[in-house]
Amino acid sequence: MSENSPITKASVDAVVSDALKLISAAKDLSSLKSIRAAAVGDGSGIAALSSSLGKLPGDQKAEAGKLITAARAELNQAFSSAEEKFYKQEQAQKLAAETVDVTAAANTQVLGARHPLSLLQDEIADVFVGMGWEIAEGPEVESEWFNFDALNFDADHPARAMQDTFFVEPVEAHLVLRTHTSPVQVRSMLERELPVYVLCPGRVFRTDELDATHTPVFHQVEGLAVDKGLTMADLKGTLEHFARIMFGPDAKIRLRPSFFPFTEPSAELDVWHPGAKGGARWVEWGGCGMVNANVLRAAGIDPEVYSGFAFGMGIERTLMFRNDVKDMHDMVEADVRFSKQFGMVL
Ligand code: PHE
Repeated sequence: MSENSPITKASVDAVVSDALKLISAAKDLSSLKSIRAAAVGDGSGIAALSSSLGKLPGDQKAEAGKLITAARAELNQAFSSAEEKFYKQEQAQKLAAETVDVTAAANTQVLGARHPLSLLQDEIADVFVGMGWEIAEGPEVESEWFNFDALNFDADHPARAMQDTFFVEPVEAHLVLRTHTSPVQVRSMLERELPVYVLCPGRVFRTDELDATHTPVFHQVEGLAVDKGLTMADLKGTLEHFARIMFGPDAKIRLRPSFFPFTEPSAELDVWHPGAKGGARWVEWGGCGMVNANVLRAAGIDPEVYSGFAFGMGIERTLMFRNDVKDMHDMVEADVRFSKQFGMVL
């Protein structure tokens, strides 16, 4: 190579070594990117040498061109390996930062479930709404008059003691926590136009200790029909239909003579439960009867013109023998694991 060529091995090496210094000073991908032009791009020493190549006399061009090509290759190689190194570094950092700790406690949202008593209550309501009945509600803190007197419980009649009652202070207010849903019978007859066909599901209270089969707060569903010409056959037919929907087409009912102050005649209602665990059997289900004439009169209805039937049963009890729930505690403890067994119907 001619001595006076500006493109000598030494001058190319000097340019390469400057550029390599720049490259090795880069700390990460973005600083590498910012020196790209100065190290290997348009503003670099090697680019300047390339452009001076054209001015060289023809006999020096080939030699100088080789030097420059080799230098470019070296610089490009250095640049891309730095680039790869930083890229890998950044990926590794990202992965470390985004590591998922599979042993960490999960932030799970536990889904609830409607309480099986609510589901059953709705299911029962649907049966009667399907027959054109209406749903009626009444207060849980009830006047003694509606809970007892209007239902033909004499002031000193022992029947009043049939149901152990929570009285609400002051005693002179004559308020009780309703012991059954029957007071809604009277309220419905007073409030509604005749004929009346109402179903009243609701919470009731008795001074029982919580144990496997009792709870001081439980639910009943009351049915009341008052119309012209209703007989016990209507009561029986209604209950039979209800029983079949609750317990299957083979279910049947039987009535045993009994006593309630507000019905005459009165009966205990048993249901033949074909699907009972351990075999089909009769199960006590509730009480019923023809509305006592005194109760009709207390509601201003002429018993000579109208007659009525009523029935009432416990929802907890129905759930217990229908779904083989053994312990009342499961129903009051509100453990979602219990509720979930009954499905997620909304
Ligand atoms: N109220 C009664 C009870 O709680 C049940 C019942 C309702 C009986 C309607 C007859 C008619 O035991």
